[in-house]
Amino acid sequence: MKAKVTGLEGIVAADTEIGYVNGAEGKLVYRGYWAKDLAIRHTFEEAAYLLWYGELPDDSALRSLREQLKAHRILQPELKRLLDAMPKGTPMMNVLMAAVASLAEEDSEWPPKAEQAIRLTAQLPAIIAYRYRKVNGLPWLEPNEDCGHADYYLQLLFGHRPAEAHVRALNAYMILAMEHGLNASTFAARVVSSTESDLYAAVCAAIGAMKGPLHGGAPSGVIKLLEDIGEKERAEPHMRGNLEKGERLMGFGHRIYKTPDPRAEALRDVTAALSGDDPWLGLARHAERTAIRLLAEYKPERKLHTNVEFYAAAVMRAVQMPPQLFTPTFTAARVVGWTAHILEQAQINRIYRPQSVYVGAMPVEG
Ligand code: CMC
Repeated sequence: MKAKVTGLEGIVAADTEIGYVNGAEGKLVYRGYWAKDLAIRHTFEEAAYLLWYGELPDDSALRSLREQLKAHRILQPELKRLLDAMPKGTPMMNVLMAAVASLAEEDSEWPPKAEQAIRLTAQLPAIIAYRYRKVNGLPWLEPNEDCGHADYYLQLLFGHRPAEAHVRALNAYMILAMEHGLNASTFAARVVSSTESDLYAAVCAAIGAMKGPLHGGAPSGVIKLLEDIGEKERAEPHMRGNLEKGERLMGFGHRIYKTPDPRAEALRDVTAALSGDDPWLGLARHAERTAIRLLAEYKPERKLHTNVEFYAAAVMRAVQMPPQLFTPTFTAARVVGWTAHILEQAQINRIYRPQSVYVGAMPVEG
């Protein structure tokens, strides 16, 4: 079928006070603050509070949020049994959908509540880490540490205190990945929530959207691209070959940004501080420069730049995140944005119900 209307490009579907994305000027703002500044100067908890409640927390609000997150980190035995029972081969994103669906309780009905957003945000790293360690035959350890969200996530995954630089890098990544306007997964969450379905169901829909390689699935594609390239000399012939075959270069291009993605710019700085002269990072930078040159040659009209996923992959690799956990980790960060949008949707709710243009056959008369 040849369709004229695809992808809802340029269609405005909601007013929001949560995030501002200006693709022409490369700007990203969370509730009046530059996302890049938040990523460098603030913690995950502070940025999450800002998205949920509309302002940065004072000391007592921050303490209270940290306590709530800590209280909700513990996985209930029923959830552990569910995670144990799922087949070993079930992809992690599908595991997350099942686990999140199971967290809904009888009193989870619409309207959504901020406490549910906090609970889900606290549970996701633990769910990911528990399942990862289970599938890999590793013992489950629950550190009883009063530490920040990114720190705790790394401890759960690896079973030891992470390097301070790794915590800072993951914290910055998770803040930059938290919110991005009406992207596919956030839109999916708002659509489901607009039916007055519960917050957990709306987040399940968002996770489903996030799984796709054109959205949250891209960082593993970036690692594969760089592994296939292998060495600097092969970057140009390899990517030229991809483009000749009509394939996309993962980590480049964006529906909204026709300038460099500000999140990629911020994460480039974060990785530079992290890895010094790490050869892998050297290869990534070389591949990035080559890709930009080739994309300008093959798609001169398209203004294709590095997107957040390219440097997200670099951060993930630097903190030793296993590739199968890249998209789940993106999910553990974006859940804050999803739930902020779900809470906002409830304040102004009207069910989403767009229309389609019928271009099919009509019954033959007579
Ligand atoms: N490599 C090669 N060509 C590309 C790329 C790319 N990465 N991205 C877009 N193009 C080309 C595409 O082939 C098309 O060319 P033509 O019209 O000549 O056939 C043109 O640019 C427009 O592409 P499009 O698919 O209409 O653009 P879109 O706005 O629908 O897609 C995108 C945006 C992100 C899905 C796309 O750029 C892409 O597939 N990129 C690679 C995957 C990726 O890195 N995804 C992560 C995006 S950031 C995640 C987030 O912000 O949530």
